[in-house]
Amino acid sequence: MKICVLGSGYVGLVTSAVFADMGNDVICVDIDEGRIEDLKSGKCPIFEPGLPELLNRNTHEERLEFTTSAAKAVTQSEIIFICVGTPPKDGGETDLSQVKAAAKEIANNLNGHKIIVNKSTVPVGTGDFVREIIEKFRNGNGSFDVVSNPEFLREGQAISDSLHPDRIVIGASSEESASRLLEIYRPWDCSVFVTDILSAEIIKYASNAFLATKISFINAVANLCEVSGANVSEVAKGVGADKRIGSGFFDAGLGYGGSCFPKDVDSLIHTANKIGPGFELLREVVEINENRISRFVDRIVERIGEGGEKPLAGRVIAILGLAFKPETDDMREAKSVPLCRMLVDYGAQLRAYDPIAIDNAKKILGEENIEYCRSAYDSAKGADAAVIATEWREFIQLDLDRIREALSGPVIFDGRNIYVPAQVAKAGIEYHCIGRAPTLPEGKG
Ligand code: UDX
Repeated sequence: MKICVLGSGYVGLVTSAVFADMGNDVICVDIDEGRIEDLKSGKCPIFEPGLPELLNRNTHEERLEFTTSAAKAVTQSEIIFICVGTPPKDGGETDLSQVKAAAKEIANNLNGHKIIVNKSTVPVGTGDFVREIIEKFRNGNGSFDVVSNPEFLREGQAISDSLHPDRIVIGASSEESASRLLEIYRPWDCSVFVTDILSAEIIKYASNAFLATKISFINAVANLCEVSGANVSEVAKGVGADKRIGSGFFDAGLGYGGSCFPKDVDSLIHTANKIGPGFELLREVVEINENRISRFVDRIVERIGEGGEKPLAGRVIAILGLAFKPETDDMREAKSVPLCRMLVDYGAQLRAYDPIAIDNAKKILGEENIEYCRSAYDSAKGADAAVIATEWREFIQLDLDRIREALSGPVIFDGRNIYVPAQVAKAGIEYHCIGRAPTLPEGKG
């Protein structure tokens, strides 16, 4: 099938690569000339395991092409996937300007019959919005139909999520369009759920909002565990063993970040307020998430700080992990950002390390009061405490004896619960984590 993908961000590139790999002819379009030049010369503009190989193989085998010409791509294709960015505006509303621009491009180049698929995460009603824009600006005799096909991939495991999703959701208003999409997804071995467009649009937001709720819920339970002396890891296991609840996405920590959850929850709240019923529950989910960092920093101050406006003045703190989660260099809504800012505001000097996100982190956090280090051991050198902000695999396997020797104050504050407390105690390090009792170094308890 001839497919055009508008947008070469995470969703656009992964969609292009995977559809091409299934034997389709794919043209991927972006208005960013530099990005398209990079892609043409085999450079992948984002860090995503397995993606460069998939792009290169399919480009080499001539099933995948990159261009800045939407006209060329649209006129040559039967199916057009809109995969452009939908960033948040102030107040949570989704900015649909890129979707609008994509719809106009399609309208200007409408020949034959096109199926236009919204894959970008868009508020309920955007299918109609795209239809109206195309009707208004259409040029030529072509016909079209709009379909919704939300994407559920996670960064860091985007290829495997796209190839093995839990489900594929298709929202269509005609059987013909739904069956064209079903044809594209024929090679997939998973359940495919065909529904109306409005429901498909809400499925995407409701899924992300539910997962965010699950995270805030377990984080609120972790607060309760901290005060009562219970262990949130045990509680999550016991609660998650109920199949109706499930154990996935139930890890307490510094809260959710990334390019999707924060903006999608805000957008759903905005939509719910705009069209009527409101969604107070989600406001609380957001508030719990936003309070994670100040609560965590309070514990750091309580243990290694002093009074006054700059309670951490003179303290050096190692920050292990900057990316919003492991296996990505993405710093969007990373919890490390408010964490580092608050620690610096309180007077601390930071020694930060991340396996791949340092360049992106520098653009957001700058270099004042933050020294970027070459390794976890390097960042621990002379620090009064180490903080785990992202659960990178390499941190789980750290030589804790080396960390203790490097630290001037052997204390770890673990915002992601990556260690077994007894293991840290055995290495002679005091350990503070989330929703579990602190442990002292062995022999000092
Ligand atoms: C998410 C959705 O999972 C995906 O379906 C959607 O398409 C895009 O948004 P992503 O943002 O890549 O994917 O990351 P994800 O792995 O879902 O993690 C989101 C955030 O939740 C991260 O900040 C992570 O640290 C946090 N999280 C996740 C927790 O705090 N606890 C958990 O148990 C799981």
